[in-house]
Amino acid sequence: MEFNTKFAAPEKQSAACVAVGIFESRKLSPAADALDKASRGQIRAFLRSGDMDGKLRATRLLYRVRGIAADRVLLVGLGREKEFGENGYRDCARAALATIVDTGTRDASLYLTELQVPGREAAWKARQLVLAAADVAYRFDRMKTKKAEAKPLAQVSISASSKRDAAALGHGLMEGRAISAGMALARDLGNLPANVCTPTYLAEAAVKLGREWKLAVQVLDQRDMEKLGMGSLLSVTRGSHQPPKFLVLRYAGAAKKDRPVVLVGKGITFDTGGISIKPSAEMDEMKFDMCGAASVLGTLRAVAELGLKLNVVGLIPTCENMPGGAATKPGDIATSMSGQTIEILNTDAEGRLILADALTYAERFDPQVVVDIATLTGACVVALGHVCSGVFANKDSLAQELLAAGTESWDRAWHLPLWEDYQEQLKSNFADFANIGGRAAGSITAACFLSRFAHKFEWGHLDIAGTAWKSGKEKGSTGRPVPLLTTFLMKRAKGRK
Ligand code: BES
Ligand code: MN
Ligand code: ZN
Repeated sequence: MEFNTKFAAPEKQSAACVAVGIFESRKLSPAADALDKASRGQIRAFLRSGDMDGKLRATRLLYRVRGIAADRVLLVGLGREKEFGENGYRDCARAALATIVDTGTRDASLYLTELQVPGREAAWKARQLVLAAADVAYRFDRMKTKKAEAKPLAQVSISASSKRDAAALGHGLMEGRAISAGMALARDLGNLPANVCTPTYLAEAAVKLGREWKLAVQVLDQRDMEKLGMGSLLSVTRGSHQPPKFLVLRYAGAAKKDRPVVLVGKGITFDTGGISIKPSAEMDEMKFDMCGAASVLGTLRAVAELGLKLNVVGLIPTCENMPGGAATKPGDIATSMSGQTIEILNTDAEGRLILADALTYAERFDPQVVVDIATLTGACVVALGHVCSGVFANKDSLAQELLAAGTESWDRAWHLPLWEDYQEQLKSNFADFANIGGRAAGSITAACFLSRFAHKFEWGHLDIAGTAWKSGKEKGSTGRPVPLLTTFLMKRAKGRK
């Protein structure tokens, strides 16, 4: 879908479809009222017939309404006017856009941005429209021989009430495009099977992204990692026949001396659990264990498209976690790049092992802040479900900043504690500490483990185990937390000018 802004009265829009909102109890939005007047009461007459009650997400298509230039009128239910807010806006936008996609409408004109959403401005409304459109139109059929039939690209114009309004909407559209393209990239990589999306494939995707968006990309291989002493990362790849990679991507949007934001993404392209092997039910979903890495690539793409005035470094440690004759065994001890030794009591707690060395590697960039993103713990899904990601930070203001970015972009997160009290659970009799902390507070002890490699900078951690993909009938990658991360960076870029 392609979006642009337009000034015109709804009755004069010569599009294939003009969409307007109806509140419950048949109250008309301003645009619906204009259509009703132009058609000499046909909209109200239709509502009186009882065929549309304005319930949120309801849609009705009317053909050839007299006095109206567009071929069709799409009535979109807005629910109760008193309750109409962010959720209502997003839901009615999705419903309208889904109808436009389903019917293969070529050009549509939406009168939704005129609706008042408490606390939200024009740019936010425009951004949400683009994100909703991208979501309803997303398909992944690269691995199917029969592709979904190509529908014509819909041109969607959104109404602006003034020049200023048009400028703000236009800005929001631009941001929405960048974020949704980043999400689509992350979703595609996540949805690819692990026999295609290997560490080598991720490295090639990073190089390609670098070429397209002028990012400096370095691909370190196993020998480089050995030289760097990344014993923690390398302990995870031992059982795999796929060579591991460590990807470094750099986006330079500010002066060289400007300290970068470093994003670190977990890139386990398949997690069998290793010798501590997982049960077979739903193990296929462990192809999504590289969604943290995918979100870093997607976010860098968005940042580059937006041209943010900020330096951003993406670090992606990537490998498979497989059993095998050479695989790491429970009880084995690895020496991390930081020098700290780790007793690997469970080879399925591998994400933290590859992130540990990546965090140490981040030190060389003298970062203003480091944020890692990882499908790290099943315990996070138990705690928070699939609604929000878990946030941890070694500085409270950073946690608040990440939460706020999540709220603004509707890619929500929740703050969990990282108190010293939990560190105790990582005690080991044989090494500096263990890689697991027992059943209690699994997400927190995983974050505690990471914190031991993040003493030298401000650090945040997003556990996206519950949010990066959906299971069941709608199985697939979500593209989260690209919206949260991009919003976080947009705000950082603004704050530093
Ligand atoms: N990739 C998994 C976490 C995961 C599991 C995410 C299920 C989403 C759904 C991670 O590597 C893992 O296996 N974690 C273990 C840690 C445990 C052994 C301490 C877990 O959560 O069971
Ligand atoms: Mn695991
Ligand atoms: Zn994992």
